[in-house]
Amino acid sequence: MSVIKTQGVEKVYNPNKIPVHALNGVDLEIKAGEFTAIVGPSGSGKTTLLNIIGGLDHPTQGQIEVGGVDITRLSDNKLIDFRKNKIGFVFQAYNLIPVLTARENVEFVMLLQNRSKAEREARTEELMKAVGLEGKMDKRPSELSGGQQQRVAVARALAPKPSFILADEPTANLDSTSTTQLLDIMARLNREEHITFVFSTHDQRVIDRARRVITLVDGKIESDEIRPEA
Ligand SMILES: Nc1ncnc2c1ncn2[C@@H]1O[C@H](COP(=O)(O)OP(=O)(O)OP(=O)(O)O)[C@@H](O)[C@H]1O
Ligand SMILES: [Mg+2]
Repeated sequence: MSVIKTQGVEKVYNPNKIPVHALNGVDLEIKAGEFTAIVGPSGSGKTTLLNIIGGLDHPTQGQIEVGGVDITRLSDNKLIDFRKNKIGFVFQAYNLIPVLTARENVEFVMLLQNRSKAEREARTEELMKAVGLEGKMDKRPSELSGGQQQRVAVARALAPKPSFILADEPTANLDSTSTTQLLDIMARLNREEHITFVFSTHDQRVIDRARRVITLVDGKIESDEIRPEA
């Protein structure tokens, strides 16, 4: 089953000034259960593509189907619902809310979804355990290391039970121990909970763990390599 399908996706920034062609016709299909890396030089369009797939940005041209729904046709309200319920995002800069504790950061999305307190608490505890941070529930982001903050961000992304997670350079600010820990968690969630992961990266250690590697150059897919199971 395909989770994500894009056809002829183009993105032009600043069309009326000095246009920047960030994506130049991307046709891509991601199937359920993939663990896929998007790689390519700086400026090749990785972040733009992830943002468009996740409904954070609109394409200039083309179609994006997520779970069979053409998200380019959704109204703004429907798009907000889609983002809230269907996708988990993990960004390079963590994007945790500094005044909230780790627990509150993870619970926050579920508050927006109007989940009950009991359900929120149970799910938060389960997720914090899954990312190995059950002892850090009540710390604020500033009291956590970069790797720990990134793991909170993964727990937060998982809170709404998304069918897939988009991660933009999730290990960019991590040392090698934290990178390995985060990748182990992602791989386990992929294997055991069948969550689809699509992540951009420049990091060879991350690329080595991917089972499919899509290379973007100048906003186009230059190669698409599927690897045998390790
Ligand atoms: N908001 C924006 N306005 C104008 N141009 C932009 C904007 N965002 C990105 N671009 C341009 O679009 C192109 C693709 O950028 P993008 O951020 O998608 O690249 P990337 O592959 O993620 O790069 P990196 O590896 O450095 O993160 C670049 O030329 C960039 O300068
Ligand atoms: Mg980027």
